[in-house]
Amino acid sequence: METKVFKPAEVAAAAKLIQAGELVAFPTETVYGLGADATNVTAVKQVYQAKGRPSDNPLIVHVADVATVERFAKPLSIAAKKLIKAFWPGPLTMIFNLKPAALAPEVTGGLATAAFRNPNNAATLSLIREAGTPIVGPSANTSGKPSPTTAQHVLHDLDGKIAGILDDGATQVGVESTVLDLSGKQPAILRPGAVTASEIEAVIGEKVMTEQHHVGATEVPKAPGMKYKHYAPDAQVYIVDHLEDWPAALAWAGKQSVQMGVMATDAILTSNQIPANCEQFSLGDDVQSASRELFAGLRHFDTETKIKDILCQAFDSTGLGAAYMNRLNKSAGQTHFRV
Ligand code: TXA
Ligand code: MG
Repeated sequence: METKVFKPAEVAAAAKLIQAGELVAFPTETVYGLGADATNVTAVKQVYQAKGRPSDNPLIVHVADVATVERFAKPLSIAAKKLIKAFWPGPLTMIFNLKPAALAPEVTGGLATAAFRNPNNAATLSLIREAGTPIVGPSANTSGKPSPTTAQHVLHDLDGKIAGILDDGATQVGVESTVLDLSGKQPAILRPGAVTASEIEAVIGEKVMTEQHHVGATEVPKAPGMKYKHYAPDAQVYIVDHLEDWPAALAWAGKQSVQMGVMATDAILTSNQIPANCEQFSLGDDVQSASRELFAGLRHFDTETKIKDILCQAFDSTGLGAAYMNRLNKSAGQTHFRV
């Protein structure tokens, strides 16, 4: 199959493909998604096939308005309405209880809940409106690989497997949306993203459980790379935890007999001696730019320069840093450079 690339002005043609049950990748403010009509079971099944994704992992339903959520979900709580008002459109996905049989088990993984998201991208909001149906969208990468932040990344993984891509350039946030579970008694963050726990707490005036509370007690830091291999490039990633570790990390890299990749801010790249066998990838100035560039950097070393070992900078796990470190830890399989 030929994968057609559509500009935002050609959204009507992309919407026709969605209506015809085809797969079309779409831009959001976070990462590119792999879109299909959420009410077409055959199309939804193809999403899992194209990605190679386990079929019990539920999909996010992307909507252009709240009315569509209310069609499928049980009546929204006051907290949910406040969060919608504060953060939609934007990088906050919310999980709601569904009306009975409102969505196919292929969408929900057989759960009585579903995740809803109103992405902040004008072209994709018109795609959903023109198609006249909500659109499921996992990240548009091969399962297990870093999420795509450009249409080129999508093509690398899915060219010939999907009908089209709506290309709106590079995404702005770079890490996937915050996933907030509002289906139980206490709101819980299942995946950290650009909308932080404290921002959510400030809006709803209620404590939010964070990922640490769910998995902290059962984490086994001594088993790197086993249960955490998501967002995993072909290369081995070594996390450099502290700014003061960089001279030792770079000295170690310089002694290796292979080409090494180095992902760090400009401040680190300019203030340290970078050995000749190290290829640099700039993470910009701060945690915002680093989050935007993280997946692009991992993909760059995998596909363009075929580098097998990467040193990558850590940030404080606060604010957006919680999302950045969540993705980096998974990419690295919890492997750290130790001085
Ligand atoms: O930023 C994003 O969220 C991107 C863009 C394309 O919107 N999408 C995305 O989708 O990251 P995906 O499928 O790669 O990640 C969705 C996450 C998965 O970890 C999935 O298990 C979880 O949300 N999820 C979806 N529905 C759920 C549900 N009903 N209960 C619990 N977790 C759910
Ligand atoms: Mg994903």
